[in-house]
Amino acid sequence: MSALDVRAFTVGPVQENCYIVRPDARATGALLVDPGDEPERLLAAIASLGVQIEAILVTHCHFDHIGAVAPLAHATGAPVYCPEIERPMLADVMKWVPPTLPPGFGPFESYEADHTLAGGERLGLAGLDIEVLFTPGHSPGHLTYALPGALLSGDVLFQGSVGRVDLPGGDWATLERSIEGLLTAYAPETVVYPGHMAVTTLGRERDTNPFLSELRRRLPRAAAADAAPATS
Ligand SMILES: [Fe+2]
Repeated sequence: MSALDVRAFTVGPVQENCYIVRPDARATGALLVDPGDEPERLLAAIASLGVQIEAILVTHCHFDHIGAVAPLAHATGAPVYCPEIERPMLADVMKWVPPTLPPGFGPFESYEADHTLAGGERLGLAGLDIEVLFTPGHSPGHLTYALPGALLSGDVLFQGSVGRVDLPGGDWATLERSIEGLLTAYAPETVVYPGHMAVTTLGRERDTNPFLSELRRRLPRAAAADAAPATS
């Protein structure tokens, strides 16, 4: 069982989940994932935990996931890792904020990413071994960060739902393939820390998520889970 210590902070009007992640509860080095809003609150949490942020990881560059990247990067000095394809969105955040949004969103400060990732990389940061996975479909450059026993999966897969595919660069077939890749590569007990809503597991979503019913029919392990329980 992984000792991973993950603290969740739901921030901003879109209720986005930002995470502080470290190898265990005594570690002083940590990752910050998707700081979307409320920078002062996140900085207070970092101070209260007594951790040093060693890297800021971004799953994708929708404004609700990156609104606090610049202030957190400046305050902590941590380098920012961002999907390569979406780097221009982080570099000019307000250009991509829909003009129809009601007041209360932003303004958000832009940031030029220190590192870009395409998926397929392996990172060693804050004492953690991180696999970078390309999981497009919700957004064109979306990344999932795989840690031992856990996925930080942004807006790919939610508890009982999936990321929307009606924004620019979104595509359902692509998202479904990304989810299939996660379900086939990682164990059912893998904990999913999503960009919105509650924490779940791959197995729970594989077996019960209504958006995955077609995918369920194609997955051999899901077929076993759908079968009647043994009575012997
Ligand atoms: Fe998103």
